[in-house]
Amino acid sequence: MTDSLLRRKSVLPETQEGSGLARTLGWPHLIALGVGAIVGTGILTLIGVGADKAGPAVILSFAVAGLICACAALAYAEMATMIPASGSAYTYSYVVIGEIVAWVVGWSLILEYSLVVSAVAVGWSGYAAPLLQSWAGVPMALMQGPELGGIVNLPAIGIIAVVAAMLLYGTRESATVNAILVVVKVVALAVFVAVALPAFDAANLEPFSPYGFAKHMGPDGVERGVMAAAAIIFFAFYGFDAIATAAEETKNPDRDLKIGIVGSMLACVVIYILVAVAAVGAVVYSRFANSPEPLALILRQLGQPLAAQYLAVSAVIALPTVILAFFYGQSRIFFTMARDGLLPQSLARVSARGTPVRITIFTAIVVAILAGFIPLGELAALANAGTLAAFTAVSICMLILRRRAPDAPRTFRTPLPWVVGGIAVFGCIYLFVSLPVKTQIWFAVWNVAGIGVYFLYARRNAVAL
Ligand code: ALA
Repeated sequence: MTDSLLRRKSVLPETQEGSGLARTLGWPHLIALGVGAIVGTGILTLIGVGADKAGPAVILSFAVAGLICACAALAYAEMATMIPASGSAYTYSYVVIGEIVAWVVGWSLILEYSLVVSAVAVGWSGYAAPLLQSWAGVPMALMQGPELGGIVNLPAIGIIAVVAAMLLYGTRESATVNAILVVVKVVALAVFVAVALPAFDAANLEPFSPYGFAKHMGPDGVERGVMAAAAIIFFAFYGFDAIATAAEETKNPDRDLKIGIVGSMLACVVIYILVAVAAVGAVVYSRFANSPEPLALILRQLGQPLAAQYLAVSAVIALPTVILAFFYGQSRIFFTMARDGLLPQSLARVSARGTPVRITIFTAIVVAILAGFIPLGELAALANAGTLAAFTAVSICMLILRRRAPDAPRTFRTPLPWVVGGIAVFGCIYLFVSLPVKTQIWFAVWNVAGIGVYFLYARRNAVAL
């Protein structure tokens, strides 16, 4: 029993490969995939949720979440180049720790990727809804979930359908479109900083940290503090892991994966800190806290409606890159777990274009329903819980391999591995503890269900390793 729970997979993806994904991606595609996946609803919308929880000290929340995520990214880069196989954290855990941990990580990744797709679709809708209302007269009730007084969030459902269709059309084409849209997104954030930073007023930063550092329950039943905000803002920083799930489709994984992961992560940290400082300095945080489109709101408050509209249009055009990248990652996690026999193998069948069709359609239906009815903050918090579990596992895998196989060839070596790995592991745990209690309970429920599936199905059907 214990043996099978801890059995480990030996990876040689080339030889193990039967259901081959085409190798079409180079490092420029990966950086585009990385920045495309990272810059999204986190910086565009959750900055408002973070400001509500931390006040101006949301800048500090960005720094804390960014530091932890950067450390995890370094561990990821090391693992992704050592084990350039589809499945990222799931596969690393299967190779390094054992099946049961790999299952929990894979199950958490399914949660992460699905909910990021839903959350970003809701964030997209936040920017799209005012435009759809003024240009096409669509009633707000059809563009917001029940928690905001609406009936259903139809734009969020619609954008998921569009991205699913793109994925079904084929990886290479989607990655190229993605690269163009990434430029649109980065230029929009640059315009925001250029307009908002000159309006910086130090008075807007007083008091800097009205809710203190550690998470605590406010009198209104909302969990607040710098760490409570960091646990949500963490959402803004991940996405580079979507690159690692593309490993088997990368032409030169050794070189391209590390350039893709570290490069896109560093670029995003710099962009975010600039945007956060510009936002908090430009207007009092309470004016944009919890807004569905905070950056556009700030620009309007500064008397720049055209810039606001430009930002909103850019977000609407470019945010689908985030949905695309996570959707892509989701289908690959399913694909890899199914190929290993832990999920039904009929799900792993790929089309002539190299896309797993059934998984893509199934995922689209589930995430569209969630996006139609659940609020953004809750979706993002639960997505973060799954991601934090995966990042913790990857960082532990990196440390275990440093011990177990110190001389194994590593094309990317994490600097100061025990310090960086330690910050990643304990940082992720601290962020998890700082999530809303409700989220932690849902995450536990998800994993209890997962363990049930493992014992009823996955363990018996795992293919010979
Ligand atoms: N980092 C991605 C975003 O902020 C998930 O949208």
